[in-house]
Amino acid sequence: MQAPTAQIKVDGKELTLPVMIGSEGEKAIDARNLRKDSGYIFYDQGYGNTGSCESAITYLDGDNGILRHRGYPIEQLATYSDYVETAYLIIYGELPNAKQRQQFSRRLRDNAAIGTQMQRIFEGFPESAPPMGMLTSIVSSLAAYYPELATNNFEKDLQNFDLAAAMAISKIRSIVAMIYRYRHGLPFIHPRDLPFADNFLHMMFSDPYVAYQPIPEVTRALNLLLLLHADHEQNCSTSTVRMVASSGANLFTSIAAGVCALSGPLHGGANVAVMQMLQSIHDEGDDGTRFIQAAKGGSKSNRLMGFGHAVYRNFDPRARIIGKACDEVLTRLGKSDPLLDIAKNLEQAALKDDYFVSRKLYPNVDFYSGIIMRALGIPTDMFTVMFAIGRAPGWIANWKEVASNTKGRIYRPRQVYVGTPKRDYTSMDQRA
Ligand code: CMC
Repeated sequence: MQAPTAQIKVDGKELTLPVMIGSEGEKAIDARNLRKDSGYIFYDQGYGNTGSCESAITYLDGDNGILRHRGYPIEQLATYSDYVETAYLIIYGELPNAKQRQQFSRRLRDNAAIGTQMQRIFEGFPESAPPMGMLTSIVSSLAAYYPELATNNFEKDLQNFDLAAAMAISKIRSIVAMIYRYRHGLPFIHPRDLPFADNFLHMMFSDPYVAYQPIPEVTRALNLLLLLHADHEQNCSTSTVRMVASSGANLFTSIAAGVCALSGPLHGGANVAVMQMLQSIHDEGDDGTRFIQAAKGGSKSNRLMGFGHAVYRNFDPRARIIGKACDEVLTRLGKSDPLLDIAKNLEQAALKDDYFVSRKLYPNVDFYSGIIMRALGIPTDMFTVMFAIGRAPGWIANWKEVASNTKGRIYRPRQVYVGTPKRDYTSMDQRA
């Protein structure tokens, strides 16, 4: 059978472009030679129709609400796995056997501490510094503190990959806990020999004289939350990581760029905005209609936060899992949260509204994640840095794909120039 191709005709010239089919049947037209053969480029603002890479990490079918990591459905991982195991799967491609899991956990444990010199970076920040602002700069400093793991030479950096990857995951978690302590004027708490999630809660909530006592329900909920954020295909921050990596940059620097990209309110920052919206509905004592009405105005700054997605035209499967988990976590912890009822009512109202129905806008992962974090005692301004802990494995796995691809090119999109055509330089006395 002949390999499928795509034909386009431009300026009277017929071009035949090869077609690529992914392992789940995803179709793409291979346009790598388009400009060379025709003089044209594809215009695709926001890259919604552009495949920037081949990747074997995560499969996402936005029309049918499907998300799989390395082939495993997110629903199964959420039920049977935990964050550390899923991180290993995403980074290394297979579920770990007992020995691999133990080695990986040990590497995470051994690399949790933040050295005394690096701790001094914190002192330069005001206590009111936004957590994401702190996280971006402290994560990028890893390349300065561990230059032997961050040489900007892929061959060398890949030799040290296992250590650098464990360091990135473990230290981002410690840095996040330290940001919380610093901003609350509390002493830093050093990591202990505890499982990943418990160690985080210990670094957040222990006192120097009273150790935090792990609560199984809290540990489970935190694991679920981090696991559900672990990777999400070519989202804004992951694409940023790949773009920076494509220049030959080391893992830490590439990840730091991802943290910056995550901070925006349309990406990781949405979880904070959702909570502020729910709180405002609660405080004003209304039914949220004003947010729905405002969102329908078409302005980007008034969007219904936690709703819609760049690729899902269906329920975000993570939102389904997290929405259900909210009820369970609150019940298990014997807590109630009026914001959960507000969120459910708002969801129902939006799902009945033609504006949202016709545009296929459904709740995304950020709609309910804040309720769980609140139940765990994590303040709202820390939500986006929590997302960053979760997303680290995805960034790392994507960096590795770029670094390992010996045929990869630097990411360098083109543009359609719409500025002033050529003109001649004018001296100062001739300018208006
Ligand atoms: N509220 C109101 N209108 C919306 C919303 C929303 N939340 N999301 C999309 N729309 C509108 C959009 O204005 C467009 O309208 P029109 O056709 O009249 O121009 C239409 O729906 C289609 O938008 P789209 O092309 O699906 O959206 P996009 O790809 O430009 O943006 C998004 C995707 C996630 C940035 C957007 O849905 C949004 O701003 N949502 C709120 C912020 C949010 O919750 N972000 C978290 C995303 S999931 C986790 C993560 O990635 O970090």
